Amino acid sequence: MSVKIAVLASGSGSNLQALIDAQKKEALAGAQIVLVLSDRKDAYALTRAKEQGISTRVLSPGDFSSKGAWEAALRTALLEAEADWILLAGFLRILSGAFIDHFAGRIVNIHPSLLPRYGGEGYYGLRVHRAVLENREEESGASVHFVVEGCDEGPVILQKTVKVEPGDTPETLQKRVLEVEHEIYPEAVRRLVKGLV
Ligand code: GRF
Repeated sequence: MSVKIAVLASGSGSNLQALIDAQKKEALAGAQIVLVLSDRKDAYALTRAKEQGISTRVLSPGDFSSKGAWEAALRTALLEAEADWILLAGFLRILSGAFIDHFAGRIVNIHPSLLPRYGGEGYYGLRVHRAVLENREEESGASVHFVVEGCDEGPVILQKTVKVEPGDTPETLQKRVLEVEHEIYPEAVRRLVKGLV
């Protein structure tokens, strides 16, 4: 029986696309993306999933009476999908410790910096790259890591460095880091599925 993956995404889903492409090339060690779940009904990630015939779900926090009720629905959806791994790919919700404990060691995230630098609440999107440039760093990069209760604090699985170039703007740096994200997320998943991590 193949390993089942659920991807949680709020936005464009380019990392989801990289995972789908890897799955097609049999570069995910036989794992199958069985569910793409979003907190936003307009997330382009959902369109990408539908194009591939992958099941989708939308759980908007606004439709629930509390964060706990929303997380309970999320948990049920993941259990119903029998997800072995839960991959956060641009998922903009912070999950509670209780939720994370339920899937302990099976939730993974990708972050656009060399963690532990430029991680934690407030470091998302262009803010990460702006901070890297403001601090005149010579390098940045991307990290795939396990999810623990502290935001972006879990053990790193795989990282790759990107050199900061003279004249970089947050946007140009973001673009090069994103290319690296698309390389390392599928590779990290392949290693996880094969039990190499
Ligand atoms: C990526 O930069 C990822 O590291 C961060 O959110 C962004 C999502 O991009 N967590 P996409 O939706 O996969 O295109």
